[in-house]
Amino acid sequence: MSARPEPTECFDLVVFGGTGDLAHRKLLPALYHRELGGLIPEHARIIAVSRRPLSDADYRAWAQEKILAHVTDACHKVLSRFLQRLHYISVNVSEDTGWQSLEQILKGREDVCRAFYLSVSPDFFGPICQALGTHNLITPKSRVTIEKPIGKSGSTAAHVNETIGSVFKEEQIFRIDHYLGKETVQNLMALRFANVLFEPLWNSSYIDHIQITAAETLGVESRAGYYDTAGALRDMVQNHLLQLLCLVAMEPPESMAADSVRDEKLKVLKALKPMDPPSVMRNTVRGQYRAGASSDGGAVSGYLEDVQLQASQTETFVAAKAEIANWRWAGVPFYLRTGKRLAERISEIVIQFRELPHSIFKESAGRIAANKLVIRLQPDEGVKMQVMIKDPGPGGMRLREVPLDMTFAEAFQVRHADAYERLLGDMLRGNQTLFMRRDEVEAAWAWIDPILEQWAKDRTPPKGYTAGTWGPSAAIALIEREGRTWHEDTL
Ligand code: BG6
Repeated sequence: MSARPEPTECFDLVVFGGTGDLAHRKLLPALYHRELGGLIPEHARIIAVSRRPLSDADYRAWAQEKILAHVTDACHKVLSRFLQRLHYISVNVSEDTGWQSLEQILKGREDVCRAFYLSVSPDFFGPICQALGTHNLITPKSRVTIEKPIGKSGSTAAHVNETIGSVFKEEQIFRIDHYLGKETVQNLMALRFANVLFEPLWNSSYIDHIQITAAETLGVESRAGYYDTAGALRDMVQNHLLQLLCLVAMEPPESMAADSVRDEKLKVLKALKPMDPPSVMRNTVRGQYRAGASSDGGAVSGYLEDVQLQASQTETFVAAKAEIANWRWAGVPFYLRTGKRLAERISEIVIQFRELPHSIFKESAGRIAANKLVIRLQPDEGVKMQVMIKDPGPGGMRLREVPLDMTFAEAFQVRHADAYERLLGDMLRGNQTLFMRRDEVEAAWAWIDPILEQWAKDRTPPKGYTAGTWGPSAAIALIEREGRTWHEDTL
């Protein structure tokens, strides 16, 4: 029997960007689900902050509509209790007005956990933190959560960290990477460290290479302004993909304590082999989608049309080969791949084991596939181990590859919590294990910066790929010229 999670201590959660995209798509539905699970204490409040003037009633009506649009298990009694927790305060950060209203609503609640969530453009991280300090809104029980992007390069990230760090202590800062809240990502740690089976094989003696893919079918949607200044390397690789790489590659931490895990992840990031300009040209591919077809066959526009620009060098696709220079991983390539408007929405980690040293099955010569462990983050979360077995029946020792399949939806008949539900709960409990520490963020940038610099110097534009495909052919060449192929789920 698993222990039922307990509600957190009482809190005031102050969400800057309370009417924004993340608030309505992720934060409100996640908080509603925590309410449904009985995980929100009786007197806890959620205070949405944004620029536009709204009353509590207006905000509650807006939130209700958004929650109903995003959840499939709405319970009206729970929803109306949840809505009563919502309050709305108008603050204009640029004009530095409205802070008194926030002071007023928080007054007298200094003893409860005060959690600030900055779901706003990073340009506002500094001004908001400074203003919270000036208005004496930071209590010993305060913490702050920030969303990526944290900077656009190593030096700008250091500046953001510096500014926030001048107001909050590191143990109060929660840098969220929602990939770490995904159920299968945590399962990766369970798989590695709660089973004796894998760890002895988890190294260059048995593993040929590793693939990490985060493929999306959507385009840039309503985020053209942000996306065109970021691109896929900053938007996905610097954080989500490198975090996954860390969890796959790290040494067993001493415990699940935040700093034990984060120390091990940091060692991986520091061991990433830096890319010099020729390696960037050889080991990275960037692409940009052109008009094509969506997965259901409908026509979709190209990137330039989506962002309404005549020209742009921004990449919507990246493939890269990373190498980790340490004893465990020397010689094992990590192929990373992410992109928008690809053929399917799939995020997965593939551990490709080495070929057999010798086969005794002459009839199956050349047909014995090396084992593969596929860890699927989405959709259909689960873990599959591809193994060889004998084809049943007569006909000699004919071998066949089959999956040992553990699709979580089938194995566990429970609703999978969204990453934000888990991470909001951890933050409110003060558990930083699944949040990034300052040095991790900066070490990740240290590997990314030379790639960005070389791309900026290189005059060739990103390679075009047709929407609905698997990206530019150069991404296929990147792996195939080394005698390997991107994993396709054919079993
Ligand atoms: C976000 C990126 O961090 O992750 C988006 O900014 C991307 O561009 C999203 O679409 C992908 O998240 P998920 O959970 O849908 O894989």
